[in-house]
Amino acid sequence: MPDLKAHLKSKLAKSQLGLVRNAFDIVGSVALLEIPRELKKKQKIIANAVLQAHKNIKAVYVEVGGRKGKLRLQKLQWLAGSRNTETVATENGVQLKLDVAKVYYSPRQASERKRIYQQVKSGEEVLVMFSGAAPYVIEIAKHTNAEKVFGIEVNRAAHKYAAENVKLNKVDAKVKLYCGDVKKILPQLGSFSRIVMPLPKGAGHYLGIALKHTKHNGAVHFYDFQPQAKIPFASVEKVRAAAVKQKKKIRIIKTVKCGQLAPRAYRVCVDFQVV
Ligand SMILES: C[S@@+](CC[C@H](N)C(=O)[O-])C[C@H]1O[C@@H](n2cnc3c(N)ncnc32)[C@H](O)[C@@H]1O
Repeated sequence: MPDLKAHLKSKLAKSQLGLVRNAFDIVGSVALLEIPRELKKKQKIIANAVLQAHKNIKAVYVEVGGRKGKLRLQKLQWLAGSRNTETVATENGVQLKLDVAKVYYSPRQASERKRIYQQVKSGEEVLVMFSGAAPYVIEIAKHTNAEKVFGIEVNRAAHKYAAENVKLNKVDAKVKLYCGDVKKILPQLGSFSRIVMPLPKGAGHYLGIALKHTKHNGAVHFYDFQPQAKIPFASVEKVRAAAVKQKKKIRIIKTVKCGQLAPRAYRVCVDFQVV
C-alpha cells in the first residue's frame, strides 16, 4: 500500500500526521476514509493526498457515523475526486459492481468469504441469506462444484446489482436470486445442504428458520457480533438455544473471529452441522 503519510508530511503537523491512518477501505475506484475527530478540518487535504498516493482511486468519501438500519448502510460525505459512488470491486477472482452508498459491501470480508467457499462440497445446494450484491453467492458458484446457489436480499438496489453481477461473472446457470425478506421468501423454498447467514447484527432472529430449512447433516454458518469477553460462548449459546426450540440436534464444527466491530468487539462465525 502506498505511503499516504509521505504525501502529507509537508501539509500536516507532526502530531496530526501521527493520527492519519495509512490503511482504509478501497472498493473498486472508491476510497472510504475514517477520519478521527481531531483531523476533521484537514479531511480535504488528506483526501487529495489519497488521490495522489493511489492512482487507481478516483473518488474519496468519508464515512459519517456507523452502519444503520435493516439495510446496514453508511452515510458517506464526498471529499475529493469524482462524485461517483458506483464502482466495480474485485475480490477472490470475481467482479462486484455496486454503489457503496446504496449497498452494504465490505472488502475486509474477502478472506472470510474464501474460508466459506472452501468448505462447499460437490453437489451442494447452498442458500446465502442476506446476500447483498452477491459476493458469497458468486464466489461459491464460481469456485465450487455446488449444484445451485440461492441468494435472498431485501434491499432492491443490492438485488439489482447482484443480478448484474451474476451475469458479469457468468454464473447465471447455477444461481437463483430472490428480492425480499428471508422470513417471507424462505418458506417457499425447500431445504439446503448449507446456509450462510451473514447478518451479524440480527442473524440470531433467523436461526429458527435456518434450522427448519437445513437438510440432515447440512451445515450453517451463523455470524454474530460479540465483545471479546463473550467469544465464543455467547454466539454458541444462541445456536444451542435455537436448536432446542426447533427440536433439532446440532454439532458445533468451529467458531472463528472474522472481523472487528469496535476496539474490543468482534465479528464471530459459528460453523455448525444439523445432525
Ligand atoms: C451485513 S450485509 C451482508 C451483505 C452481503 N452478504 C455481503 O457479504 O456483502 C446484510 C444484508 O442483509 C440484508 N438484509 C437485512 N435484513 C434482511 C432480511 N430480513 N431479509 C433479506 N435481506 C436482509 C441487508 O439489506 C444487507 O444487504
